Amino acid sequence: MSAPSVPDLLCPHCHEALHFTPASSADPGTAPASLRCSKGHHFDAARQGYFNFLVGKGTVFEADSAPMVAARYDFLASGHYDPLADAVADAVAPALTAGSPLILDAGTGTGHYLRRVLDRFAPAAGLRALAMDISKFAVRRAARLNPEAVNVVSDIWQPLPVADGTVDAIMVVFAPRNVAGFARALRPGGLLVVVTPRPGHLAEIAAATGMLGIEPGKEERLATQMGTHFRTSHVQDLDVAMELGTAQVADLAFMGPAGHHLDRAALAEKLAARTGSAGTTPVTAQFRITTFVPLPA
Ligand SMILES: C[S@@+](CC[C@H](N)C(=O)[O-])C[C@H]1O[C@@H](n2cnc3c(N)ncnc32)[C@H](O)[C@@H]1O
Ligand SMILES: [Zn+2]
Repeated sequence: MSAPSVPDLLCPHCHEALHFTPASSADPGTAPASLRCSKGHHFDAARQGYFNFLVGKGTVFEADSAPMVAARYDFLASGHYDPLADAVADAVAPALTAGSPLILDAGTGTGHYLRRVLDRFAPAAGLRALAMDISKFAVRRAARLNPEAVNVVSDIWQPLPVADGTVDAIMVVFAPRNVAGFARALRPGGLLVVVTPRPGHLAEIAAATGMLGIEPGKEERLATQMGTHFRTSHVQDLDVAMELGTAQVADLAFMGPAGHHLDRAALAEKLAARTGSAGTTPVTAQFRITTFVPLPA
């Protein structure tokens, strides 16, 4: 991580500006990169290169576990969701044109989708990236995959550690939306790109894997919430047809919210009994990619 690529971050304790000091090249082990505010709060980079911004109690939330994050990493590495990664990069592109634009990946997970954006725009555009997730297991992976981004363990529901109106684009892929916080962080004309599942998403395997369905009325509630700060500028529905082996079906189930209560071994056994261990299952992912622009304040 080099100093010029670091976005202007705010201290999660006092909201003063944070100043970045790179790791000592002579001895990064004892002098890691650090962020420090004028009030003396400071954050040393963890060995894997990320910062922990969690302060106080935060949201009561069960963060994704290490096995859930590993399942996500393995599934995304299979390339089946690559069309979604391309679509997200296409959607944020119009906001990443000026100077050294700043993108925020809210709920970055393993950093897979941000990687696609970085590959497309950095370093030619001088793109700066901030990736946030509440799971330290996820952020460890993200920091490894996207070392040129600033990766922080932090809670989306706490004040975002960036100054008002300084972010060019925010991407939220299957992650929570702090609508008011995002509206405050985005510059006028900035873009918020949100990926959500449509009702038929992974329908072929939902029952067999115990995946959680979309709560009735959830979309309407979210649309109402979004409407307080944003208007919709574009909606793209993307369907991806896949043929998945049992291990990939298990990864898909395990990487989502159902992973908190699924027994991986029992699930693998059940799936193998259903399709035979060498068999494949046709599965369709149904995504919606919605682009929002902030309403004038
Ligand atoms: C379904 S995963 C999606 C991850 C990634 N965007 C992807 O699609 O690969 C949701 C992510 O949101 C994170 N998350 C959930 N609540 C959060 C919160 N309050 N603040 C920050 N991250 C949160 C989880 O830890 C998890 O990594
Ligand atoms: Zn501070």
